Amino acid sequence: CGIVGYIGHREAGSVLIQGLQKLEYRGYDSSGVAIHESPSIQIRKKKGRVSEMAALFKASPVAGTLGIGHTRWATHGETNDQNSHPHVGGNGEVVIVHNGVIENYSSLRTQLQALGYVFRTTTDTETVAHLLSHHLEEQIKLGADPSELSTYLKVVEITLSKLKGTYGLVIMFQDLPNLLIAARLGSPLVIGVGKGEHFIASDASPLIGYTDEVIYLSDHEIAVITEDEVEVIHRDEGQQKLSIQTLDQVSVDSDLGDFEHYMLKEIFEQPQTLENAMRGRIDEDEATAKFGGLNLSAQQLRNIDRVVLTACGTSWHSGLVGEYLLEEFARIPTEVEYASELRYRNPPISNDTMIFAITQSGETADTLAAMRECKRKGHPTLAICNVVGSSIAREADGGIYLHAGPEVGVASTKAFTSQVMVMIQLALFLGRMRHLSYPAGRRIIDAIQKIPDQIQKCLECNDLIKDISNKYCNFNNFLYLGRLYNFPGALEGALKLKEISYIHAEGYPAAEMKHGPIALVDEETPSVFVVPRGQIYPKVMSNLEEVKARKGPVIAIACEGDKKIADIADDVIYVPDVEDFLQPLVTAIPLQLLSYHIAVLRGCNVDRPRNLAKSVTVE
Ligand code: G6P
Repeated sequence: CGIVGYIGHREAGSVLIQGLQKLEYRGYDSSGVAIHESPSIQIRKKKGRVSEMAALFKASPVAGTLGIGHTRWATHGETNDQNSHPHVGGNGEVVIVHNGVIENYSSLRTQLQALGYVFRTTTDTETVAHLLSHHLEEQIKLGADPSELSTYLKVVEITLSKLKGTYGLVIMFQDLPNLLIAARLGSPLVIGVGKGEHFIASDASPLIGYTDEVIYLSDHEIAVITEDEVEVIHRDEGQQKLSIQTLDQVSVDSDLGDFEHYMLKEIFEQPQTLENAMRGRIDEDEATAKFGGLNLSAQQLRNIDRVVLTACGTSWHSGLVGEYLLEEFARIPTEVEYASELRYRNPPISNDTMIFAITQSGETADTLAAMRECKRKGHPTLAICNVVGSSIAREADGGIYLHAGPEVGVASTKAFTSQVMVMIQLALFLGRMRHLSYPAGRRIIDAIQKIPDQIQKCLECNDLIKDISNKYCNFNNFLYLGRLYNFPGALEGALKLKEISYIHAEGYPAAEMKHGPIALVDEETPSVFVVPRGQIYPKVMSNLEEVKARKGPVIAIACEGDKKIADIADDVIYVPDVEDFLQPLVTAIPLQLLSYHIAVLRGCNVDRPRNLAKSVTVE
C-alpha cells in the first residue's frame, strides 16, 4: 500500500492525488484522500485505480491545505469502497491511513464493539481509528485538555502500545487542523521537508519535484508535523535530533514513448540496463569485478565460508541463478532462501556466512525482516537492490545497486536480468579471490561484455513471439522446463505467465518432470522448453521427446543454428549461443515477451495485474 500526506500552502487534494499516482505500484485495489476542510475532515475514496478516485474528487472537490491519502493492496477485508482508506474513528474525530497489518485486530475489534463502537468496514485498520477515538475520549474524561497537543500525543502512544503487528500510520485529528501525526513500526515512512510545507509518504517517489530534503522515520518513532516544523519522538529515547538527508533526484521516467505498456518498454530497455549493471565494475587488468559499496575488508571477503541469498518472487529466482554461479565460480557453498521462511526458520549461520538480500524495490517486508533477523544475530548483511535509498538499501551494511532505473511494470523484467548480471560479477569477484584463474576470469569478462548486443539480438524475435503467442494464448495450463542454469529461468518464465495472464504455469527441472508433472501433459498443455546448447543438451532433448511422445505441444527456446530441434518442437525461438552461465540472461527475453504477448492477447492489464503489487510491504 502507499501513503501520502501534506501540510502547507498548496491545495492538498492535487498534491495527494499526484502522490498516489506515483505510489500506485504499491497497490491499486482502491484509493482515497481525507482533507481537513474546517471544521471537519472530508473523505473521498473509491474502489479501483487512483484515476477513478481522482474523477470522484474532481466531481466533488474538497478544499484545504492539510490532508492524507492512501492507495491500497488489500490484506484484511475485500476490495470495495468502504474498505478503502482513509478510515474514520468514532464519529469522525480522527481519520487515519495505514500500511502494514494489525495482527490483534480481531480481539481489539470485539473489545471496541463492546464499548459501542460501530464498525463500517472489515479492515484491520478501522480498529486503530476507533482505538484512537476511544483513548481520546478516555483522556478527556480524565481531565486532559482537548486543545493541547500533549493530549493527542498521549492518545497515540497509548493506542500504539496496544497494537501487535506492523504499521506506517498517518493520523489527522478533527480538532487539530494544523498538524499531522505519523508513527512507524516495520512499515516505512519518509518526511519531505519543504519551505512552509511538509510531506509524508511511504517512499520518496511522491516528494520528487517538491523537495529533495528528507527525514526517514525509524521504528518506534512518532513524528509531529506542522507547516514549519517536524518533531520526532522515539518511544524509549524521547525527542530525537533530526537527521535531514538529501534525496538523489531520480525522477521517474513515466514516458512510455512508442511502447504500449511499461512492461514492454522495460523489456526493451535491457541492453541498456545490463550495460548499466556492469558499468565501472569490470577490472580487465586483474580479470575480476570490483564493487564500491560492499563495506567489507579483503580479509573478511576471503573468510566467507558460505553465502545465504534471501529474496521473494522474481528476486528469489535470480538468487537461484546466484547459487549456481557462486558455487561454480567461487566454490562457496551457497543457499537461496525464501525471505518469508528465513525470517522464522533460524537455521545455523556461521560468523563467516555472508547474507545477501536481493530485492528490486528494497521495500519487500519479508526480505527486510529476514535481513534484520540476520543482522540481529550479528551477521554482515548486504543488499542487491535497485531502488536507491530504499529501506533495505539503507539498513544493509553494504551492497550493490542494479542501476536499472525505475521499474514500473508490476511483473519484474529488467530488474531480474540486472540481478543476474550482478550475481555473475559477484561470483567472478569472489572466485578471483580464491581458485579462479586469470584466463578463466578473462573468459567470463569477454563473455559478459558481449551480452548487451546479444540481448539486442534476442529482442528481434518480438514479432515471431507475437505470432507464436497467437497460437497458444487460449491454453490454460503450461509447463516450463529447463535444467542447470535454465531451471531458474524456467521458474521465472512460468511466474511471468502466471502473474500477467492468469494462466496456470509450473516451472520444473526438465528431468524432474517425469516424477509428477508429466501426468499433466496432453494436447492441451504446452511445454516451454528452455534448451539452449550446453553441457547436458542431449539429456534435455530426451525430456523434450518424452513430452512429444505424449502429444504435448512444445515451444523450444534454443540456440541459433540448432536445426535439429526444429524437427521435434512445434515452435522454436532462437537465442544467441552463449556460455551456460549466461543462458538465463538471453533466454529471459523470449520468456518475458511470450508472457507479455499472451497476456495482451487475453486482454489482461499487463502493467497492473490483478491482486498483485509491485512492492509488497506487508508480511
Ligand atoms: C512482488 C512483485 C514481484 C517481485 C517480488 C519481490 O511480489 O510483484 O514482481 O519479484 O514482490 O520484490 P522485490 O522488490 O523485493 O524484488
